[in-house]
Amino acid sequence: MRLEPVLAPAEVPAVDLAPFDAAPYAARRAALLAQMSASGRGVAVIPSGGEVVRNRDAHFPFRFDSYFYYLTGFTEPDAVLVLVAGPQPRSVLFCLPKDETREIWDGYRYGPEVARQTFAMDEAHDLAALDELLPKLMADRDAVWFSLGHDAAWDARLIGWLNAVRGLVRTGITAPGAVRDVRVPLDEMRLIKDASELATMRRAAAISCRAHARAMRFTRPGVREFQVEAELLHEFRMGGAQSPAYGSIVATGANACVLHYRADSAVCQDGHLLLIDAGCEVDGYASDITRTFPVSGRFSGPQRDCYELVLAAQAAAFAATAPARHWNEPHDAAVKVLAQGFIDLGLLQGSLDGVLESKAYSRFYMHRTGHWLGLDVHDAGDYKVDGEWRPLVPGMVLTIEPGCYIRPADDIDARFHNIGIRIEDDALVTADGHENLTLAAPKAVADIEALMRR
Ligand code: GLY
Ligand code: MN
Ligand code: MN
Repeated sequence: MRLEPVLAPAEVPAVDLAPFDAAPYAARRAALLAQMSASGRGVAVIPSGGEVVRNRDAHFPFRFDSYFYYLTGFTEPDAVLVLVAGPQPRSVLFCLPKDETREIWDGYRYGPEVARQTFAMDEAHDLAALDELLPKLMADRDAVWFSLGHDAAWDARLIGWLNAVRGLVRTGITAPGAVRDVRVPLDEMRLIKDASELATMRRAAAISCRAHARAMRFTRPGVREFQVEAELLHEFRMGGAQSPAYGSIVATGANACVLHYRADSAVCQDGHLLLIDAGCEVDGYASDITRTFPVSGRFSGPQRDCYELVLAAQAAAFAATAPARHWNEPHDAAVKVLAQGFIDLGLLQGSLDGVLESKAYSRFYMHRTGHWLGLDVHDAGDYKVDGEWRPLVPGMVLTIEPGCYIRPADDIDARFHNIGIRIEDDALVTADGHENLTLAAPKAVADIEALMRR
């Protein structure tokens, strides 16, 4: 008996993986240490996290802390980065020790010595030495930089270390007089992506674009939402993504009007739309794409009217995405187009100024037009500075995701009922405007209809 391969080799995409490069992480540590040194002789403590039990002996897949990973590239659980600022800045990693028995069960561990070399640290130690060494590293430092309030257990440990240093003051040591939020400088750094981050984000974006195209080709009346989700997951993993960046939304019919719906079991029906908000995570970096298309492969008249409206709103938002434009300009531009469209379609009454002033448009468009994107899908970084919307700067990555959600109501023409549409792309701000990182996911009505006919 001869078994046929499930997947013909020609269908398996080649995935080229670059070897790990510690240099970008070392550069970020150096940049943070320089900022810390400029304001004193502080010490930063940045834990990653541990595995979390899902139920009984099963764990959730481990996901490192984004700040820790940003500064190390180290993906094992139970690790802590300590940065010592001052005339001789140092990066110190604490991680799990080599342990043959544990490695038989759980797999390879770097251990401190190999980790020190691989991740370009100045020192590395067994995590078990943390309580003994940290008070020494904190001695005679003016401040501790830490994510106070992020995790109660780590907050308690920090207080323990501080008290241990205070217990030594009679020996002539001084204890840090301040706890500063390490996320403040790191959020500013994370807002501007470096070349290594952008390379990874482009990979994530490309895989997610292929996943959306695959879902379009697959969808037809009769398939269930979770089966479409399976197509997305297939493409994510085939491309080398480690996981979805967030719970995939696969919502057909009325479900598309539920903003935080998750892929469930509804059957895709002729005449309905399917809204998919899904993006993969590659080496820690998120992509975030939404596409909406007709299950049958052809938009009905009202569906097309609403779709073209959201597309026009997105184009207006993109046009306002450029250096020196401020954070809220893309949102304002999208809202203006949507509000006029809702009036033109007879969904709202009154003048454009009146609808904008009263926010009557929010009945059909109730969320914002985007967010920062990076290691977290809703990424780090303030949207206002000194009370003013932040100006856009080259290297920022944001989503542009207008939508329109029409729930059934007596005062709404029934042909519009349950139309839920969102179109979302990922934009990189460049020196002369922006680049759409997710352009390859089909979006124009003609492109979607042509792809689904195939
Ligand atoms: N998928 C999450 C978002 O679009 O914000
Ligand atoms: Mn988004
Ligand atoms: Mn999204």
